Amino acid sequence: MTKTRRSQAWYGKTDRDGFIHRSWMKNQGLPDHAFDGRPIIGICNTWSELTPCNSGLRDLAEGVKRGVWEAGGVPVEFPVMSLGETQMKPTAMLFRNLLAMDVEESIRAYGIDGVVLLGGCDKTTPGQLMGAASVDLPSIVVSSGPMLNGKWRGADIGSGTDVWKFSEAVRAGEMTLKDFMAAESGMSRSKGVCMTMGTASTMASLVEAMGLSLPTNAALPAVDSRRMTLAHLTGRRIVEMVDEDIKPSDILTRAAFENAILANAAVGGSTNAVVHLLAIAGRVGVDLTLRDFELGGDIPLLVNCMPSGQYLMEDFCYAGGMPVVLNALSDHLRPAKTVLGGDIAAYAEGAECFNTDVIRTLDNPLKPAAGLRVLRGNLAPLGAIIKPSAASDHLLEHEAEAYVFETIEDMKANIDRDDLPVTAETILVLKGCGPKGYPGMPEVGNMPIPRCLIQQGVRDMVRISDGRMSGTAYGTVVLHVAPEAQAGGALALVQTGDRIRLSAAQGTLDLLVSEAELEARRATWQPDPPQYTRGYAKMYVDHVLQADRGADLDFLVGKDTRPVTRESH
Ligand code: FES
Repeated sequence: MTKTRRSQAWYGKTDRDGFIHRSWMKNQGLPDHAFDGRPIIGICNTWSELTPCNSGLRDLAEGVKRGVWEAGGVPVEFPVMSLGETQMKPTAMLFRNLLAMDVEESIRAYGIDGVVLLGGCDKTTPGQLMGAASVDLPSIVVSSGPMLNGKWRGADIGSGTDVWKFSEAVRAGEMTLKDFMAAESGMSRSKGVCMTMGTASTMASLVEAMGLSLPTNAALPAVDSRRMTLAHLTGRRIVEMVDEDIKPSDILTRAAFENAILANAAVGGSTNAVVHLLAIAGRVGVDLTLRDFELGGDIPLLVNCMPSGQYLMEDFCYAGGMPVVLNALSDHLRPAKTVLGGDIAAYAEGAECFNTDVIRTLDNPLKPAAGLRVLRGNLAPLGAIIKPSAASDHLLEHEAEAYVFETIEDMKANIDRDDLPVTAETILVLKGCGPKGYPGMPEVGNMPIPRCLIQQGVRDMVRISDGRMSGTAYGTVVLHVAPEAQAGGALALVQTGDRIRLSAAQGTLDLLVSEAELEARRATWQPDPPQYTRGYAKMYVDHVLQADRGADLDFLVGKDTRPVTRESH
């Protein structure tokens, strides 16, 4: 060993501190030579039985360990906070930044040279990347992988996407409650993340497009033996990465984020990728803005997966997965370094498509232009977004009167009123669902269609909020309005009966109320009293940035790569 590794500042010392660091580690049966200067590889695991999407990560950690040992390193697995999207209240997003802090400080405080990030469920991947980026040790991702395709009554059903559909069908009287309850067992048939192109598979796909994992990481099903092989190979690779000193800052360049934006359009990815990529970029000092997401505006939708298409992640895997998408995008991709040390173009080499209905070609796309649209106007001076590929074409240019729900409780209490004064043209507005307001910016932006309209056959309406929506959801839904209502944004001033104009083509969102009237309303406006007066949630509300900055905490932006020199005893 010629190079003094970071871990030697813990394990290479002959004094009392070195004794303490090594001796206690030896209680796990590690031999002397584990501390002779070989790479110590952290395996940062978000495994939890409360995060069912990540429940396969304990097995995958064993695969990583095999690879690390084989390559001459020493694997040490450690837990970090896990965020179960379907289980946490008020929303897992409230805790993404807490996970990022946990990951960052765990990596920094321990004597490791590189880290394998095991994540999957929506917030775990970005939370881990944010934390790892702020320490900047060599890092590589292994994702949970998607569940097997959902099955019910002989048909494929998709995580989330079909929940929204079934729920509306029950409210319309088209599906019995018994069938609704029966479908839930068939939807989630194996370990793994949502098998639609929801946020988890979107983030895994973008991780691959940014070169932060080995190729094929995104789509291999969680229970496919090849994912265990991928974990093994990742364990080998991180040891080499430590020797080659390939760090997140070498990979997470502006070019890599642009490639992620292009890939997000091609896969029909989640709107949540916007806040996550902005937050990760903030950690590595890349000046990414909401406007940059328009780079994907002309990229066609190639991946025919729910919610924008009809298939599921298992089909995407068997059709060839992300290497095929990257191959199709090869003329658009920017040169960017990956965990393999070479350019991202290598991920697409030799990629073959085995089902051109699942992964379309550029000249036969599912939709011609699939990128997210960024909206601005007096209703969203700092921006808002809409996902045209999951919206109704006829509503993308729309002007109508608003019906306003002041809070989530207001919406839930009134959405099914038979006398709700709305039509299919009405624009539904929901306030109080931003980072500070809820708090945590939950996935409630795709609010249900009012029951009185569902019964008339209405299945989509323009909906506007400062919240997010699930990556598995669909509809003509304007999200991430910034500034949010609780921060005093114009959204706070909208009243039922105001006219609003949405133009996805022009990228505008305007409240058609005079400036004088808005000023008069602003003069009497008061924010809601804070819901939390102590603990992490108070710190979050006090410091969270708006959606256009990725909803990170203001004091977490950037990184700190200084060595920790003081000892604990
Ligand atoms: Fe965990 Fe969808 S809820 S990935």
